[in-house]
Amino acid sequence: MCGIVAYVGPKDAAPILLEGLQRLEYRGYDSAGLAVVNRGLKTRKVKGRVADLASAVPARFKGGIGIGHTRWATHGVPSDLNAHPHLDAAERIAVVHNGIIENADELRAKLTADGVDFASETDSEVLAHLISRTVKDTDSLEEAVRTALKLVVGTYGIAVVDAERSGEVVVARNGSPIVLGIGEKEMFAASDVAALVRYTRQVVHLEDGELAVLRADGFHTFTMDARETAKVPLTVDWDAGHYDTGGYEHYLLKEISEQPDTVARTLRGRIDDRFHIAHLGGLNLTPHETRAFRRVKIIGCGSAYYSGQIGAQLIEELARIPADAEPASEFRYRNPVVEHDTLYVAISQSGETYDTLAAVQELKRKGGRVLGIVNTVGSAIARECDGGVYLHAGPEVSVASTKAFTSTAVSFALLALHFGRVHDLSPADGRRICEALRLLPGQIAQILELEPRIAELARKYADHPSMMFVGRVRGYPVAREGAQKLKEISYVHAEAYPASELKHGPLALIGPDMPTVAIVPDDELLDKNLTTLGEIRARGGRVLMVGHREADPRLADDCIVVPKSEVELDPILLTLPLQLFAYHAAVALGRDVDKPRNLAKSVTVE
Ligand code: F6R
Repeated sequence: MCGIVAYVGPKDAAPILLEGLQRLEYRGYDSAGLAVVNRGLKTRKVKGRVADLASAVPARFKGGIGIGHTRWATHGVPSDLNAHPHLDAAERIAVVHNGIIENADELRAKLTADGVDFASETDSEVLAHLISRTVKDTDSLEEAVRTALKLVVGTYGIAVVDAERSGEVVVARNGSPIVLGIGEKEMFAASDVAALVRYTRQVVHLEDGELAVLRADGFHTFTMDARETAKVPLTVDWDAGHYDTGGYEHYLLKEISEQPDTVARTLRGRIDDRFHIAHLGGLNLTPHETRAFRRVKIIGCGSAYYSGQIGAQLIEELARIPADAEPASEFRYRNPVVEHDTLYVAISQSGETYDTLAAVQELKRKGGRVLGIVNTVGSAIARECDGGVYLHAGPEVSVASTKAFTSTAVSFALLALHFGRVHDLSPADGRRICEALRLLPGQIAQILELEPRIAELARKYADHPSMMFVGRVRGYPVAREGAQKLKEISYVHAEAYPASELKHGPLALIGPDMPTVAIVPDDELLDKNLTTLGEIRARGGRVLMVGHREADPRLADDCIVVPKSEVELDPILLTLPLQLFAYHAAVALGRDVDKPRNLAKSVTVE
């Protein structure tokens, strides 16, 4: 996904922009560029990596104000010309843009008719020409940006500099994040705090429809109709160290390995052993309001949605409230019926996923009560929700979600315990869950010790073109997440099915070339799951069983045994070996593990 960095202050901007762009590399991109103001605009743009851009930036690139960008091609191929920043014809204005200008064709046609020559195929370039028109008349960059944005339909996060006003950067947001960073007599802006934490922990998030003027000595924020807005800076507790690989070969392995700690952080201070309840300070719900909800609807995208399926089962089992999960990307388009006795829960690691944000906004418009389970403090989804739970898992850099997945499932366990104890979950059952939750970090550490064996299995199965993942009830979301991890980072086709559905169709696919990963927890469905394994084996299918006991060799070729929790919490632990399996399959196949092709870390476009 595209990334933005901007700087204004006493230091040279170029090294700061390059460092910031490097921090945004994890989001995925195909080209990079920057512009610095110093008696005119100095720009460099390259198709390729930030390191290529750094080599293209000469030492004489001085100047304390600048903007930088990593581009993920939407309009126009990845190329030097299509890379940002984009300039107007007079080379006075430079713009970097995240998002999509929907009426770009129309604006381009009008500008072309007025004699403007375009240098690129991008939608973003229209912004530079539109701003350039007004800036000449008003001599106010802020005013020119505002005027241009009024003509634009679409989503944007932008940063703009004017070669003739070398003291300021103007940024604006509509549907694509912009965060300001407050330094000592210097200001930063970026599309992601990752680019800022090396320099400052004091940040301000822009809202949609806000614009900010940054100067070295501070900032002012405004609405699109020029009314000044008041902002309270937040302190982020993530530091630059969180964004290093910490000696691991990949961020993904680092993040998988962090899970004993991240789960412990999600749990910290939230379990009350006196009453066997969970303390979740940010829910903003009284016990009376909590009892009044008759249903829980969970929304999220991709892995967040699968963790929501685990969450729905936890809520139904522990609180006996009907609950289900749906992809936010579907929910938002189907004009959902919003019920006042339904509690909505939105899940997002980044807090910026556009589909989830749009679903939350739609819910709010219709009067729905929405809780967020979010990792990124102060992110758009967190701000939009009525209350919620922060994961405290630290930044997740690798594109594939791992530690956020487990921390979300653990947050749901806490939420389900809380709802359960407000409803009819007995103190004895509350204690059972509290005790099991406390054991999770240690049990995760035990699973991580299985890594050499799981790596061996991954290498054994990785050369199959396709794999089936099956699970029943509690095991089904685990199977879905296992298939998701495998396909996104190893590019091995993986399909997840409820084990009970296999004989209704996909059993036809089973044979020696299509191995099955079967999630077989030791619960009341064990016998049914073992029967399914028998059915697969009878068709010549190979089986890798993930469960709580050694497999009968007649039913499975291989087995990964994980520690047992309470049945409701088992799905959390069963997910861990599948993360390691996908990781080692991807490594064996020589994939770009942390930045799989075609994917971005946070999907801030529709
Ligand atoms: C898969 C993955 C994605 C995200 C999804 C939602 O490994 O990372 O499926 O889970 O794009 O992202 P967030 O949680 O940031 O809203």
